[in-house]
Amino acid sequence: MDCFLLQGGRRLKGEIRVSGAKNAILPIMAASLLTRGECIIWDAPDIKDVATMAQILTSLGAKVWVGVDARTGLRYVRILADSLRSHEVSPKLMGEMRSSIVLMGALLGRLGKFRVYRPGGCPIGLRPINFHINGLARLGVRLSVKHGFIHGEAPRLVGQEIHLDFPSVTTTENLMMAAAYAEGTTVIRNAAREPEVVDLGNFLNSLGARVTGAGLDTIRVTGVRELGGTEHTVIPDRIEAGTYLVAAAVTGGELTVTNVIPEHLEAVTAKLREAGVPLEVGRGHIRVLPGTRLRPVDFKTLPYPGFPTDMQPQVMAMMCFAKGTSLITENIFESRFGHAEALVRMGASVEIVNKMAVVRGEGSLTGAWVKATDLRAGAGLVVAGLGAEGMTVIEDVAHIDRGYERMDEKLSSVGADIKRVRM
Ligand code: EPZ
Repeated sequence: MDCFLLQGGRRLKGEIRVSGAKNAILPIMAASLLTRGECIIWDAPDIKDVATMAQILTSLGAKVWVGVDARTGLRYVRILADSLRSHEVSPKLMGEMRSSIVLMGALLGRLGKFRVYRPGGCPIGLRPINFHINGLARLGVRLSVKHGFIHGEAPRLVGQEIHLDFPSVTTTENLMMAAAYAEGTTVIRNAAREPEVVDLGNFLNSLGARVTGAGLDTIRVTGVRELGGTEHTVIPDRIEAGTYLVAAAVTGGELTVTNVIPEHLEAVTAKLREAGVPLEVGRGHIRVLPGTRLRPVDFKTLPYPGFPTDMQPQVMAMMCFAKGTSLITENIFESRFGHAEALVRMGASVEIVNKMAVVRGEGSLTGAWVKATDLRAGAGLVVAGLGAEGMTVIEDVAHIDRGYERMDEKLSSVGADIKRVRM
């Protein structure tokens, strides 16, 4: 098992380039199944989830190549799904990555059927799929959910008006993909507005689909008969960017994150400024300036453009270094405070009351032996370890590697004392 050894107290200084967004490339890779044409996806992050999605696509019969362009140094994923041999995703592969749920829409669009294993819950919640099931049923999909498998079949997909109970990101994405070839127009109301949904809409349109309204709460998809190939560059990862800004803030450092679309993380930068982090926002970069003096802030996680739940653990860790009480309300997932226990072990004072965490910041933490329970909780513990006094050991960093490209190397390059060790 890989662990991180962190010696806290080193100020981060320098520049980190943000990679392509995990939550954009995963649905886009799935969407490449919709066409027989070749898809080249640029700025692919070198993360475990991309490798897992590549394995899944290959198991279905697609050809997948991953490489680095010699001229630009950009990583790419090249996918050719000209002939598929299966509509079934193995339970093992489904179990490795929850977001493989987005394959339902793509397989429906291309083959009119799918059989996937119901992805399990995870430390942040039960992760039900009722919105997905209800939405696909509206499009005429006959579904059966038993023995842990979801089987969907639709001799023909007919466009409908669908109102989501909640602006679920992957539900929105599944419906967009399933609707790409449906007869007529599908209207998705109360749709998720995340930038990753917009990126998927742009990708689908570059294949020849007819998607309008992505990024708004009503998305329309008019079915077409044929889709072609494309080249597409995924948007930068706004959560990776936010994570490194927070890491710089807790060390009192001076850090520039590049390859950023600042508009995608306005809720985060606004909250960081409120918390006493001086920021300079440029066209494609954001810089933490020297002089951070952290103060407690309250925040609630909300669907985009509200404060993103995927930044909650990292900012909770940062609030431990402020002096005073912060109230954090987690509105998206029902149990996304798993990282609090590790922070308490590092000396934090955190009390959980239903959906709210009360953090009584004392201005410092001490290093300890902790364990990453999920991707963003792990990122939060790295933030805590960077600012803590002494050594922190973080076990099971495979969770972090699922969504952060070589986090240890990126942090070392700007002065962090962080080492990856195998135990
Ligand atoms: C996406 O997950 C992201 N994952 C998550 O990022 C992110 O935290 C989440 O959106 C934010 O909403 C990917 O894009 C791959 P949801 P998703 O459907 O689509 C409930 C990360 O760390 N719900 O928007 O699975 C659900 O339980 C990950 O990168 C139902 O009740 O999230 C949650 O409470 C973590 N029934 C809420 O809706 C359903 O059928 C929002 O979930 C679906 C969801």
